[in-house]
Amino acid sequence: MYPYQITSLAQYHEVYQKSIKDPEGFWAEIAAHFSWRKPWDKVLSWNFKTPEIKWFEGGKLNITENCLDRHIEKSGDTPAIIWEPNNPDSPTRTITYRELLFKVKQFANVLKNNGVKKGDRVCIYMGMIPELAIALLACARIGAIHSVIFGGFSARSISDRLQDANGEYVITCDGSYRGNKEIALKPIIDDALVNCPFVKRVIVFSHTNTPVSMHKGRDVWWNEEIEKVEEQGNPDCPAEEMDAEDMLFILYTSGSTGKPKGVVHTCGGYMIFANYTFVNVFQYNPGDVYFCTADIGWITGHSYIVYGPLSAGATSLMFEGIPTWPDAGRMWEIVDKYKVNILYTAPTALRSLMSYGVEVVEKYDLGSLKVLGTVGEPINEEAWHWYNENIGKKRCPIVDTWWQTETGGMMISNLAGVTPSKPSFATLPIPGVQPVLVDEKGAELEGNNVSGNLCMKFPWPGMLRTTYGDHERCRLNYFSTYDNLYFTGDGCLRDEEGYYRITGRVDDVLNVSGHRIGTAEVENAINMHTGVVESAVVGFPHDIKGQALYAFVICSEHPRDEQLMRKDIAETVSSVIGAIARPDKIQFVSGLPKTRSGKIMRRILRKIAEGEMANIGDTTALLDPAVVEDIKTGKL
Ligand code: PRX
Repeated sequence: MYPYQITSLAQYHEVYQKSIKDPEGFWAEIAAHFSWRKPWDKVLSWNFKTPEIKWFEGGKLNITENCLDRHIEKSGDTPAIIWEPNNPDSPTRTITYRELLFKVKQFANVLKNNGVKKGDRVCIYMGMIPELAIALLACARIGAIHSVIFGGFSARSISDRLQDANGEYVITCDGSYRGNKEIALKPIIDDALVNCPFVKRVIVFSHTNTPVSMHKGRDVWWNEEIEKVEEQGNPDCPAEEMDAEDMLFILYTSGSTGKPKGVVHTCGGYMIFANYTFVNVFQYNPGDVYFCTADIGWITGHSYIVYGPLSAGATSLMFEGIPTWPDAGRMWEIVDKYKVNILYTAPTALRSLMSYGVEVVEKYDLGSLKVLGTVGEPINEEAWHWYNENIGKKRCPIVDTWWQTETGGMMISNLAGVTPSKPSFATLPIPGVQPVLVDEKGAELEGNNVSGNLCMKFPWPGMLRTTYGDHERCRLNYFSTYDNLYFTGDGCLRDEEGYYRITGRVDDVLNVSGHRIGTAEVENAINMHTGVVESAVVGFPHDIKGQALYAFVICSEHPRDEQLMRKDIAETVSSVIGAIARPDKIQFVSGLPKTRSGKIMRRILRKIAEGEMANIGDTTALLDPAVVEDIKTGKL
């Protein structure tokens, strides 16, 4: 039990009311349970117009002291990370808190030896191995700002991010394993760095023994650098004293316009929010084995594989592979093997596993499970019931956690077994979170049984502070749509009982297999193909991915081989963004439905992509309504 753990519905309501009436007192009480070098002077100052948000100003801490050092005395021998490799026949690893602290200090010293200083940006591009978590924590130990890039992104995406953050240091692996694939990562970094001559050092961890080229003067091996640290004979690395508002990390995410933006999270507020939500939503109890299937390349991995669980002294199970390899029982095998108590995964993974039938599940003993969680996209009722019946055996509460890269932690979710769950509803806000629904004009929709755009009217400690290097972009994206509100970009329903149900994005951001993809970004990538004049990308429902990408493309001349051209376009998207953004369908068209002012009417394209040809709606505002007929009939 944690002192701030809510254990009954009545207590939830009481705590929630308190958190609204006196947010500062509420969060200060929770923050007092953490390790601070110096207490804060002021709990909160905020202004949503500029925006400027500061939590625990003047407070000094280091997040790694909270995630590691403070647990050593009582739970030094508790497993911090249990690692399950991609291949079930390869050796597993268990790293206790004591060992993890040792490794983090060691690697922090490697970073220092290589010139990394407080405030420097370090880009991390690795597979799901413990060294990835160690790299994050080592950066945090010395006050360097990490920017993790998901292993599925292309060289170009990496160089864009490196340039945006002016990252002079890179940590990577020779390669990674995912299912039956061995993916060479270092060559992708090499390609990315052609456009980043400012990168001073690349530290390479050898995991797959894939042959790689090592550039003299720039690239060094992780293990050799560790040996140097051992030779230096000082295993200690005191944690850098950080201000609560110093940057902890940057994580790039897609928006409705332009290139991905670097969401910035800071040390103090983020830590407290990740921890508080972890403990309360999952009802974690010391000794529980907790398994989050996300990748550390996304926010879920940052907050709920690394910082949330470790700050709570929890045992976090990390899995290198994919749920369907060597077969679709892999996740259940892991649950059985480690007697997992809490499982946190994505609806898309569940939908994919459902299609293999329950026989695969029945081979394993899932009796250890106590709590199930989902994240990343709305969970459809069918998947919810399947999860409940076949995995939780109707005895495990399911927490449907709604949140975003920008929110740092869970915002709307039931608390496992404490507050009620409702299929496809994220249900109620976390204490301290003040959601509002607004109409198009920003007027608040009060009462129950209303639908609108989801906003927040008060800051919470885990919220983003800025977008790296471009504060105005942060203001425009999140704080300018509605006066004095943070706008999430999501549509939402509040039902007759006051429960929240997220209905999906209301902007041009798609959610493909739980991955956030901006349509503008994919269009820019498609347009880079020499034969393409213009394109428009919309989403359409997909049984497994939730949403999939449909691209309407105008070519400069009719492709001689349409199939080959589709492949070329998909390849272009892969090389510009990464394979995750490859369109599922590409239709060649002669024109796009545009208004007189030249704006593409995506509503029409969405209907066509969804196959709702008869239901296109009003086309009178179009410059050339005939275009719609051509697209519908496939005429070029
Ligand atoms: O549309 C919402 C959807 O995912 C978006 C945030 O994506 P990202 O920043 O990549 O973070 C994903 C992991 C937190 C949201 O704007 N989303 C996330 N969780 C849910 C969800 N939609 C419905 N229900 C959820 N539980």
